[in-house]
Amino acid sequence: MVGGRVKKIGKTLPKELIDNSGKQLERLDTKPALLDLKNLESKNIYYFGTVDSTNLIIRRLAAEGAPNFSTAVAEEQQEGRGRLGRSWFSPRGTGLWFSMLLRPDISNRIDITPVTLVTAAVLANYFREVHNLPVLVKWPNDLLLSGKKIGGTLTEIIGIPDRPGYLVTGIGLNINQQEIDFPGELRLRATSLALESGNFYNRTELFLAIKETLEKAYRLFFSEGFPPFQKLWKKHSSTLGQDVTLSWTGGTMRGKALDLSKHGELLLQDEQGKIHTVNYGELI
Ligand code: BTN
Repeated sequence: MVGGRVKKIGKTLPKELIDNSGKQLERLDTKPALLDLKNLESKNIYYFGTVDSTNLIIRRLAAEGAPNFSTAVAEEQQEGRGRLGRSWFSPRGTGLWFSMLLRPDISNRIDITPVTLVTAAVLANYFREVHNLPVLVKWPNDLLLSGKKIGGTLTEIIGIPDRPGYLVTGIGLNINQQEIDFPGELRLRATSLALESGNFYNRTELFLAIKETLEKAYRLFFSEGFPPFQKLWKKHSSTLGQDVTLSWTGGTMRGKALDLSKHGELLLQDEQGKIHTVNYGELI
């Protein structure tokens, strides 16, 4: 059990709190509980305090020859990156900010481009099945809870001339933030697991469980491709069947989200009935 029910978070907390398994919880009103992930380099987990971006750390580790599934996790990112060139708010000690190195065997010709949808579908499924939280995926890879964003993933595909390339999959999850932890405008769009469930989460346990779940999923993806995950994504989608507005650098388009293709593209029917296959942009 990772989460324990906490009635109120603040200075009025009783001194001792236990979770459902009887384990004592750390208090949130003193300082954020830091991750307990030191000395795990032998398992290829690299734990940092403050970094620019864990995606950049993985690129540096990859250049030094780090193996498949090497993972960089940080308490805080000062240049956290989001999709479409945005920044990602990554304050200290509250969420999970980590990136994994993926070195797929490309000899089996699997189409790797939907990897970011794989990550989102697997995370939504994990939160639903393990924590009973109704997390949904908004195309392509936003994780939503109660209509607000609790997480996102950013995948970078790195090609190297004459050598096998690799992927960096970066994951940002809002875990123990309270409302006050989100700056003004973000407060309207973002939320955390703690805010939605009233539970306090042990980020270390959560991180280790999620990393294991993702590793298993990536192994399956790189051997069988997207079909099993296309099904999972569709199962947890908040997008399909909805009237949506697609926004991209060239403009916007209103339409109905009909389906997800076997490559992870959105099939969008515009107001004239024409069906577009979309692989870039965001739904606003
Ligand atoms: C999005 O825009 O939805 C994607 C956000 C991805 C954020 C994560 S946090 C860990 C990793 N490092 C980064 O700089 N970005 C990703």
